[in-house]
Amino acid sequence: MSTVLVTGGAGFIGSHTTLLLLEAGFEVVVVDNLSNSSIESLHRVEALTGKSITFYQTDIRDKAGLTEIFAKHKVDSVIHFAGLKAVGESNEIPLEYYDQNIYGTVNLLKVMESAGCYRMVFSSSATVYGDPASVPITEDFPTSATNPYGRTKLFIEEIMKDLSASNDRWNMVLLRYFNPIGAHKSGQIGEDPQGIPNNLMPFISQVAVGKREKLSIFGNDYPTPDGTGVRDYIHVVDLSDAHVKAVQKIGALGGISTFNLGTGNGYSVLQMVETFIKETGKSVPYEIVERRPGDIAECWADASLAKDKLGWTAVHGLSEMIEDTWRWQSQNPDGFK
Ligand code: NAD
Ligand code: UD1
Repeated sequence: MSTVLVTGGAGFIGSHTTLLLLEAGFEVVVVDNLSNSSIESLHRVEALTGKSITFYQTDIRDKAGLTEIFAKHKVDSVIHFAGLKAVGESNEIPLEYYDQNIYGTVNLLKVMESAGCYRMVFSSSATVYGDPASVPITEDFPTSATNPYGRTKLFIEEIMKDLSASNDRWNMVLLRYFNPIGAHKSGQIGEDPQGIPNNLMPFISQVAVGKREKLSIFGNDYPTPDGTGVRDYIHVVDLSDAHVKAVQKIGALGGISTFNLGTGNGYSVLQMVETFIKETGKSVPYEIVERRPGDIAECWADASLAKDKLGWTAVHGLSEMIEDTWRWQSQNPDGFK
């Protein structure tokens, strides 16, 4: 049985991917320092699948710790989610982002190389497209970054390309996520942001559950149909499924490949609020406020490359994404606590 090491496997996307990997028959080793997650997520994944996970509470910057883990397990591929991800925070503490995301990844790659493990799937982001000149976005669009978080994604992509060019034993897949939302159908695992959510969907659901008074909509004067920002929201289970396919196909793909993971549909903030209200029957008070600095008007994916090369396509529509988010939020108003 093939073993996948998942860094950041206790987090939002990592826990869903771990669940799907177990269901697909992989052995899973999770490495997570639990800085932004709870071990409870993995206990629930074990309960849902009836399978066990090998867990190490280890930081990806800990070379000795990682070396020991790779010595204990014959790891075939790594899926690398671990890292910091808050754009605003990255402007305040950039060194922490460079240390954890970039140094952490270099450290992980070095340990993998020493252990003879040459396969890595990496969590990149649509943020690497900066402010795109047009939509939908294909993988060959120019890349740029406007904040330290985005720069870490861009730099890590470049580091992985250099490594792949240096030695053709490396097989790498860069997955550029659009906007992941939703939760597993069981309502047992989902997104559990610490403090005030930065992203739209967790904010809406915390307003609906009564934890926050109202949503602030960041601007209604964008050049979009209703003036609010348009994004490509994708169900976290679809996103996770793409990781399973990437691990299954990484050897056949060879070298380094880059894929957009989105649905190809864009929804505005107001459409998200209206659909949420319709699907859940809850009220979501909101007010229009200033634009958030750094936000772009619209962004959605052309995901046809992932369809061609990975045989992957998103299957969940917006209603399901919202229903599943709400099941998780309403059953777990305080997340995993
Ligand atoms: P998350 O915070 O829920 O998961 C990240 C996990 O990594 C957490 O469990 C955290 O404890 C762990 N971690 C952080 N730093 C670590 C370190 N130094 N050593 C070991 N573990 C560490 O985030 P997520 O939403 O699941 O995102 C996963 C990945 O996907 C991240 O790399 C993120 O940048 C990327 N991404 C996320 C989104 C999104 O909207 N959620 C979009 C694009 C890309
Ligand atoms: C954010 C990140 C981006 C990351 C992406 C996916 C920022 C500036 N960018 O982008 O790097 O790749 O998530 O995780 O954080 N909105 C509101 N009110 C809110 C929250 C959001 O109106 O309280 C609006 C935003 O202006 C945007 C849309 O909702 O139009 C989606 O916002 P968000 O969920 O933060 O995602 P992105 O802006 O795409």
